[in-house]
Amino acid sequence: MVMELRVTLIGCGTVGQGLLEILRDRGNEVDRRTGVRIRIVGVADMKMGSAESPGGLEPAQLLAAARTGSFAGLPGAERRRDALGLIREVDADAMAEATFTNLETGEPALSHVRAALTLGRSVVTTNKGPAALALGELRALAARNRAAFLFEGTVMSGTPVIGLVEHSLAGDRIQELRGILNGTTNFILTKMEAGGSYGEALAEAQRLGYAEANPAGDVEGHDAQGKVIILAAALMETNLTAAQVPCEGITRITPDAIARARAEGKRYKLVGVVRRTGNGVEASVGPQALPLDDPLAGISGVMNAINFRTDLLGSLTVVGPGAGRVETGFALLADLIEVGRRLAR
Ligand code: HSE
Repeated sequence: MVMELRVTLIGCGTVGQGLLEILRDRGNEVDRRTGVRIRIVGVADMKMGSAESPGGLEPAQLLAAARTGSFAGLPGAERRRDALGLIREVDADAMAEATFTNLETGEPALSHVRAALTLGRSVVTTNKGPAALALGELRALAARNRAAFLFEGTVMSGTPVIGLVEHSLAGDRIQELRGILNGTTNFILTKMEAGGSYGEALAEAQRLGYAEANPAGDVEGHDAQGKVIILAAALMETNLTAAQVPCEGITRITPDAIARARAEGKRYKLVGVVRRTGNGVEASVGPQALPLDDPLAGISGVMNAINFRTDLLGSLTVVGPGAGRVETGFALLADLIEVGRRLAR
């Protein structure tokens, strides 16, 4: 039997459109293989307005409208209804939140997430702000309202990390994790190592949809810092603030430094670390020249990786895409399927 999951999509930029492309191209296969049919009953975007239809909006139509920059002309189109209005007024089982990340206030996503969870709607998100700033609060709010708060796509796009540790490593304990957590900077470092310029590599990362709306957050390390905070809270039971996580980006890594590292058999990577110590958990983000036999040294381009050191398994490395339109849209899909399966139980 197919379970129908009614979803509102908030934010229809790169990631939201990635989800819609997957639903357009393989929605039927997803229904058949997972037993969960995802129906987009409402969409809101700061620039494009909103649209809603209890019977479901066609992903192909939404994508065509998004290309014109406006949802006007779609069923239930309403330029004046903002995201919060849509979340409150459109009946849905879940909300997919894919607005831009703000790691200082979490807004507007934090208000969207709080509103949906308060109404008992499950939330899946790729937005790092709410998970980095308020994971404990949001998980408690979800539990009180019998809803789920899933955020797999906040770290390593659709590459499974949070779910992998929560499900497949249940019973083990992580002592340390070291990760390449930002696709844009790894892409830039890889291009620079091959002789490319920083500026060209950054422009290409922006064109490919890897970089944040403001790429300073990538190159100065703050995106990786947000992910480190999420991983510490989600996987190592420790709430950290940005002020507790020393952070340096890649802006001071020169072509000369890269060449010198190479001559020593090393490679620069932007590494996020979370480690248990005698006093709790400490975390940091910064460039490191890694020896080539380090499991993180061979990760190139937009790929990301996390090397875990655990009590029972020892060393385990997860490698996969860290950013990208469909790759991150897929994270929303996987979390929505999980919500549908939980509701079906
Ligand atoms: N800007 C981020 C990156 C996107 O480059 O990794 C994924 O969080």
